[in-house]
Amino acid sequence: MSIHNKISAADIERVYNPIDKAGGLPNAAYVDQDVFAFERDNLMANTWAGLLFASELPENGYALPIDFMGLPLLAIRDREGQLSIFHNVCSHRGMILVREAGPVKNLLRCPYHSWSYTLDGELKSTPHIGGVGQNSAEGFSCIGKGLKPVRSAEWMGIVFVNLSGEAESFDDFIEPLDARWAKFAGAGALNKLSVASDHSQMQLEIKANWKLAIENYCEAYHLPWVHPELNSYSPLDQHENLHVNDYMTGQATHNYTLSEVAGTTLPKFGAWPQDKQAYGEYISLYPNLMLGVQVDHAFAIILQPIAPNHTIEKLQIAYVDDDAISDQYQGCRDATLAAWKTVFTEDIFAVEGMQKGRHSPGFQGGVFSPVLDTPSHDFHKWVAKAYQSGIESKA
Ligand code: FES
Ligand SMILES: [Fe+2]
Repeated sequence: MSIHNKISAADIERVYNPIDKAGGLPNAAYVDQDVFAFERDNLMANTWAGLLFASELPENGYALPIDFMGLPLLAIRDREGQLSIFHNVCSHRGMILVREAGPVKNLLRCPYHSWSYTLDGELKSTPHIGGVGQNSAEGFSCIGKGLKPVRSAEWMGIVFVNLSGEAESFDDFIEPLDARWAKFAGAGALNKLSVASDHSQMQLEIKANWKLAIENYCEAYHLPWVHPELNSYSPLDQHENLHVNDYMTGQATHNYTLSEVAGTTLPKFGAWPQDKQAYGEYISLYPNLMLGVQVDHAFAIILQPIAPNHTIEKLQIAYVDDDAISDQYQGCRDATLAAWKTVFTEDIFAVEGMQKGRHSPGFQGGVFSPVLDTPSHDFHKWVAKAYQSGIESKA
C-alpha cells in the first residue's frame, strides 16, 4: 500500500533533521484513514505490537475476540493454560467466529453453518458438508483449514503479536528492556509479577491518534503544568530523558515517592538497588506500549488504536509478588491505581487538544525543544522510517 499522496518525501526529510532544525510528522499522520491502514499493515505488522493483557483471559478454556485496528483477532486460552492468537474468521465463508468473550467448554462453533474448531484452532467438524446428514464430503479434508494463527509472545503480562510473522524473535526484541529492568527488579522478575483482581486495571478512551499518547508519554516537559500533583513528588528537574535504543525511549525520575504520598507500604522488589529506591523509569516501547517500573510496582498501558482519532488506553498495574495482592494491601493498591488514574486522566485534554490541532493548516508538524523533546523526536524518526516504504512505492 502506498501513502505517497498523503505523506511526502519532504515531510520525512523534515523529521530526520537534527532536532534543532527538525519538524514533526505532518497532520495526515494523525487524521488520515489510509495512513492509519498503512500503519496497521506495515508499521505495526512488521514488529511486535501489544494486543492485550494475558489476564483478560481469566481461566483455562476461554476465548476473547479483539479488534486490532479493524483486523478481527481471537485470543484463546486452551485447557492447559496456553494462550494463542488467531485470525477470528471461519475458514468456510469468512464469518466472524467468536463475537463475545467467555469460557469455552469444548469446541468453538461458528454460528453460521456450525463448523467447529478445537481450542488449538484445528477444524474439527463440518456438519452436512456432504449433504444432509453427511458430515464429510468426498475430497474434503479438515486438515489445513483450521484457524490461521498469528505469531504471539508474552512478557510482563502483555500479549504481543507480530502480524507479518517476519519480525526478529521476540526474545531479541525485548532483550534490551528485559535486561535493563532486570537490574532493578531482578532477573526474570518481570515475568513473575502478580496482578490483583481488584485495583489493578483501568481503561481510558481518548479522542486522539495513538501516536500522540506515545509522544506525550515520552516527555516530562509538560509535568509542571499538566500534572501539578505529580510534579510535587516527582518534579521536572528530577527527570532525565532516556534513549534505550531505536524503539525504546522515555524518561527516568530520581524522585519517585508515590508510596509516601499515597501512604502505601507495598512490598518492594528485593533486588532493587538500595541507593536507587526513589528511581523509576517510564519507557515507551514502540509501537504502542507505555511502561513504567518503580520499586514497588510496574505498570503497562496498551494503546488500542480504533480509528485515526480514537484510541483506547488499557492500563494494568502489576505488583511484586502474591503477597502484594493479598487483602492486607488492598488500600495500597487502591491508592496506587488512584494516583496513576489522576496522572493519565490529566493527560487527556492535552492529547485530545493536539489531535484537534492536527486539523489546522496553520500546523504542519511543529518543532521540538532541542533538550526536553528528544524522546518525542526519536519516536517521530522511528515512525518516519516505517512510513518510508509506503512513500517510495507508488503502487
Ligand atoms: S461461515 Fe462458518 S460455518 Fe459457514
Ligand atoms: Fe503526562
